[in-house]
Amino acid sequence: MAFKYSSVTKKVIMALAGLFLISFLIVHLSINLLLLFDKSGELFNLAAHFMATNPVIQVFQIVLFGGIFLHIILGIILQIQNWLARPKRYKVEGYSQTSFFSKFMIHTGAVILALLFIHLSDFFFRAKFGEIGEVLIGGNWYEDMATLVIEEFKELPEVLMYVVWLLFLGFHLDHAFHSALQSLGLNHSKYTPVAFGISRALAILIAGGFILIPVLIYINQ
Ligand code: HEM
Repeated sequence: MAFKYSSVTKKVIMALAGLFLISFLIVHLSINLLLLFDKSGELFNLAAHFMATNPVIQVFQIVLFGGIFLHIILGIILQIQNWLARPKRYKVEGYSQTSFFSKFMIHTGAVILALLFIHLSDFFFRAKFGEIGEVLIGGNWYEDMATLVIEEFKELPEVLMYVVWLLFLGFHLDHAFHSALQSLGLNHSKYTPVAFGISRALAILIAGGFILIPVLIYINQ
């Protein structure tokens, strides 16, 4: 019984962390899209500066990395418990109400995590610990993060890597939102199609929005 209870608790924490990560992705995407709407890069640089210096955001950043860690660790534990608990014969059972990608959450998650390390070393660690060029905006000097991103996406292999990564993110998100609602006990058969629809819309908008950035920067260079 304790095993079952702790499993439910793990799912709830994982769902809350996952929903928090989705909200991070929406904020992150909104800021990154500034690169496409303002070709000077000034708005993006000002937003990046705000995100890197505002004390409240700094606290959120610690919560963010904690959320990523919890989501991953609990995801791995639940997956292992699932593998151990489920006898093989259930695998051939017929229809179950899940999306295609629900069966591959651990796999898509692993790819996202692996490439997240590359992403962080491309930008985040460089911004924190490396040398970044500076740019004058309104009489003040700011780190030129826009040029860092634009230079990165002038290379085709880099663009392709990001597109593949972001497709996996889309596959992962396709199952994420409605699955989180289910783990939080907020599912009702009447609203299931709506939750599925929101999940799919989030997957397409978030992954598609992110994909536009490297692709359009590469095409327009
Ligand atoms: C085209 C897509 C993306 C671009 C251009 C981009 C750009 C950036 C940049 C420039 C930073 C450094 C910000 C700074 O330190 O000032 C950053 C940080 C970060 N990115 Fe991305 N990003 C993209 C997609 C993603 C995705 C899909 C994820 C998650 C799956 C992600 C997760 C993070 C995290 C966790 C950080 C560190 C925390 C933070 O700075 O807010 N990014 N990204």
